[in-house]
Parts: sequence; C-alpha cells; structure tokens
Amino acid sequence: RLTSVRFQPMPRYTFRLNGQPVSVDSWDPAQPLLYALRGPLAVHGPKFGCGLGQCGACTVLVDKTATRSCQLPVSRAAGREVTTLEGVGTPDKPNPVQAAFIAEQAAQCGYCTNGMIMAATALLARTSKPSVDQIKQALDGNLCRCGTHTRIVRAIQRASEV
Ligand code: FES
Ligand code: FES
Repeated sequence: RLTSVRFQPMPRYTFRLNGQPVSVDSWDPAQPLLYALRGPLAVHGPKFGCGLGQCGACTVLVDKTATRSCQLPVSRAAGREVTTLEGVGTPDKPNPVQAAFIAEQAAQCGYCTNGMIMAATALLARTSKPSVDQIKQALDGNLCRCGTHTRIVRAIQRASEV
C-alpha cells in the first residue's frame, strides 16, 4: 500500500561573505564554517591546519572579530558578516597588511599566512599603532612551523605605519 512521504527541505544558512549574500545547505548545523567556505563556497584563503582550534590557519573575520572557522558551526555564521583573506585585498590591490607581508617577505611555506594576516588585520582595525607586545599577544595562538615570526612582527609594524 502506498503511503505519502513528506520530505523536509535541507536547512539553509545564509550570511554575507566578503560583502555578498551567500547560502549553504547542510543537514548538519554543526558543520564547521571552514568546510562550507573551502567546499561549496570555493573560498580557499582559510586553510585547514589542525581542525582543533589550535593553529589559527583557518582564521576569518566574523563581524570583524578574528575567528577560527574550523570551530564555528555554519549555523552560527547565519546572519553574520564573514570576511576571508579574499575579502580584505586582491593580488592587484593588497590591503596594507598583505602589502607589508610581501615587502617583508614574511612567509616561507605560507600555510600560516592566511591566519597571520587575518589576525593582524583585526588587530590593526582596533589598535592602529600596536606595540610589539600587543602584536605578539594578538598572534599568540597563530602557529608558524617555519619560524617566520620576526618578519611577521616587522610586517605588522610596517602595516601600522601606513
Ligand atoms: Fe582551525 Fe587549526 S585549522 S585552528
Ligand atoms: Fe610555513 Fe608559517 S610560513 S608555517
């Protein structure tokens, strides 16, 4: 005997990404925002490092606050403003932090660079002339396996002078 089956629509989470409205359909409200960004939204600035909130490679800005996108459920991004590396500057028009990282050659393998630039961009938005200690504190949770810390600090100081 035939019975009618009612299908539930897949939940949809809508937010702004780099100034544009976007939606992600997911059965899993706990899916990390990072997966949605690098998957269906095809934004590859944020990197998958540890997936545990411990390295900072996946950092994005959520409502201007540096946030680990591997730890933020996509459902909690709904209605918010998400900015990735792609949203702060372009290869033709880098933002002052990106330009300073290039000028100081503040990367080796570059895997941590997304997180460093996003954390520094958030720092400079709230403190335009940070001290070295403030820079170190703001980037404390961002790991660099290649040991480019000295150049990174110099790059952020350079960006703060622009
Ligand atoms: Fe998110 Fe390491 S990948 S903190
Ligand atoms: Fe390689 Fe930082 S430049 S991890």
